[in-house]
This record gives sequence, C-alpha cells and structure tokens, in this order.
Amino acid sequence: MKLLVILIILFVATGFSSSLSSSSSSSSSSKYIYSETYQSTDTTCTNSVVSSEFALDGSCQYGALSRCINGNQAVEISYYSEMDCTGQSIDKVSIPVNSCTDGFPGKLYCVDEVNIPTSNALLTILSETCDWKETLESIQIRTMNTCFELNNQMYYFTCNATNFVQEVYPSGSSCSGSPVSQTSLFIQQCNDVMTGNNITNICI
Ligand SMILES: *[C@@H]1O[C@H](CO)[C@@H](O)[C@H](O)[C@H]1NC(C)=O
Ligand SMILES: *[C@@H]1O[C@H](CO)[C@@H](O)[C@H](O)[C@H]1NC(C)=O
Repeated sequence: MKLLVILIILFVATGFSSSLSSSSSSSSSSKYIYSETYQSTDTTCTNSVVSSEFALDGSCQYGALSRCINGNQAVEISYYSEMDCTGQSIDKVSIPVNSCTDGFPGKLYCVDEVNIPTSNALLTILSETCDWKETLESIQIRTMNTCFELNNQMYYFTCNATNFVQEVYPSGSSCSGSPVSQTSLFIQQCNDVMTGNNITNICI
C-alpha cells in the first residue's frame, strides 16, 4: 500500500523511443528511479504499462524518499511524517529492481536516462524552473487513448494542447458507449504551485 505513494498517480505508457538528455553540460550523469504501474488485475506485471514515472534518485515525493542502493539492484524507500522528508524516517522498505510488487502491480528500476514516448501520452513534469530540461525532477507519463482497468473501473484518457479528459466506464467494459463520468482539466504549461515546484504538462 505504501508503494502507492511512490508509484503515485498512476497511469500509462508503452513503446518508448525518444531519448531526452537531462542536461547537456553536466559532467556526472544523473540517475533516475523509473517506476511502472500496471492495471490492478495484472498482478504479474505482464500486460501494458498504464503509467510510468522518472524521478531523480534521492528525491522526496509526498513524504517518501527513494534511493538506488546495492549497485542499483534495489530501491530503498524511506517514509517520513513530514511531506518534505525532513526529520526521522518512520519506516523503510527495500524493493529489488525489475520485480513485480504484488498488491499494487508495479516495477522499479534505476536508470541513467529519461526515455519518453513520442505519442499517446500526457507528460506531467516537475522541475525547479520552467526550463524543465535543465532542472528536471520528475516526469510522469500517462498513456492516452487506451482502455484500461484500475480499481474496478475502466479508464480512458485523451489530451490535446489545452485539455486532459478522463472518462470512466463500468468495470469489464471496453470503454465504449457513454462514460459513467467525464472530467476535463485544463493543462498548464509552467506554473508555480503551492508545493514549491513548477509543473509543465505536455500532450504528445
Ligand atoms: C518556477 O520557475 C521560475 C523560473 O523559470 C522560477 O522563477 C520560480 O521560482 C519557479 N517556481 C517555483 C515555485 O519554484
Ligand atoms: C481540446 O479538448 C477540449 C476538451 O475535450 C475541447 O473542448 C477543445 O476544443 C480541444 N481543443 C482543440 C484545439 O481541439
């Protein structure tokens, strides 16, 4: 359940191809923790990835600090009561890379490069400045235009340059007919948020 915190806000991505260098001038290569989230019923992590995320190694997200350990063979997640991961950690887990975690189907990896898909995705990027390619902290990649199951409901996402639309369909359906609900959100380019990060959304 706690893994949910770090694998956060789920959803999507298949077929990676383009590669983004996080910094053209840095001398040491940045390392990222790459997480994949699968459909709730896919307890062996074999079908398509619903969402994925690249986050800087050692970064704190929602009170969980993740680090690559054991020569990148495992990811250690330390939990804090403070959302900014200050003070004493209250719990710690170590998860081997490339292993399917049960309960909340997902996999973790330690990688040197960020690879983003070229289509059918909404990227949600956290960065220190609006020049996100230079100050990248994390990229969440949600797969668009795919019907998938999460927690007993079917979801279908679409996006364009201005909006992200989430449609919910009954369990077991193939996302056809009328959705049970439809939510449209305006997507921001680069904006300050109360948590102190800049968020950029890109529909590709
Ligand atoms: C967002 O980025 C701008 C520069 O691109 C910076 O001045 C501003 O402080 C950033 N906002 C936050 C909350 O970090
Ligand atoms: C983007 O999507 C929204 C929500 O579906 C829609 O209202 C809008 O017309 C679309 N914009 C373009 C340029 O297609």
